[in-house]
Amino acid sequence: MNKFIFGIAALLLVNCNHKVQEISEEERSNYLTLGDSITNHAQKVLLSNVSQTIASSGVSGAIDFCNINALPLTDSVADIYTTRIQRLTDKNRNPNNLIKDEIDKKAWEEIKRLMNDKEIIAKHFIQQEGDKVYYYKPIALGMPTCLSCHGQIDTDIPSETYQNILSKYPNDKAIGYHLGELRGMWKVEL
Ligand code: HEC
Repeated sequence: MNKFIFGIAALLLVNCNHKVQEISEEERSNYLTLGDSITNHAQKVLLSNVSQTIASSGVSGAIDFCNINALPLTDSVADIYTTRIQRLTDKNRNPNNLIKDEIDKKAWEEIKRLMNDKEIIAKHFIQQEGDKVYYYKPIALGMPTCLSCHGQIDTDIPSETYQNILSKYPNDKAIGYHLGELRGMWKVEL
């Protein structure tokens, strides 16, 4: 009898949890669209600022700029949407951007799987944790400019630029990438 009651209680609990966490296809698609527009906006802001600074102060000058402004710039876009935006990676430059949380580790595995599967076109997705919904999207090294700060030392990154990187980020791991390679992921709290 006790077992029976316990069984019913467990069943109700599972059902209730299921109800709370369930996201409809329409909601999922809305979350993905919102995540796309927020990350596209943030990417545009970062890219235009870096390009302008490279043009005016060179690659090494742009390192100084990114060091001071990369996080505040992403935060300023996040403020517009009253959300939190992060760029996370396993080989980080800024220690704040290292993948640490379990949910992000899971997302990173999924990102790598998606990037390896040429059949899948949509590489973005959402994950839920409690009542929170998180959007994720891969960041690839999409253009040759990225290599001047994340490529091979000497071939892509002039050694003087690399010295400047090391002076600001003594534990820098964000080098050695090739064009098109996976570099990190966007995470947005929705
Ligand atoms: C002028 C040098 C420079 C260029 C060009 C550059 N980056 Fe970076 N990148 C940096 C610096 C410096 C940081 C650390 C910023 C910080 O302190 O928040 C960084 C951080 C990142 C991060 C966050 C993860 C981490 O390691 O901290 C990603 C992702 C990233 N860059 C991707 C790219 C991509 C993709 C491109 C090309 C579109 C690119 N970067 C071009 C200098 C550069």
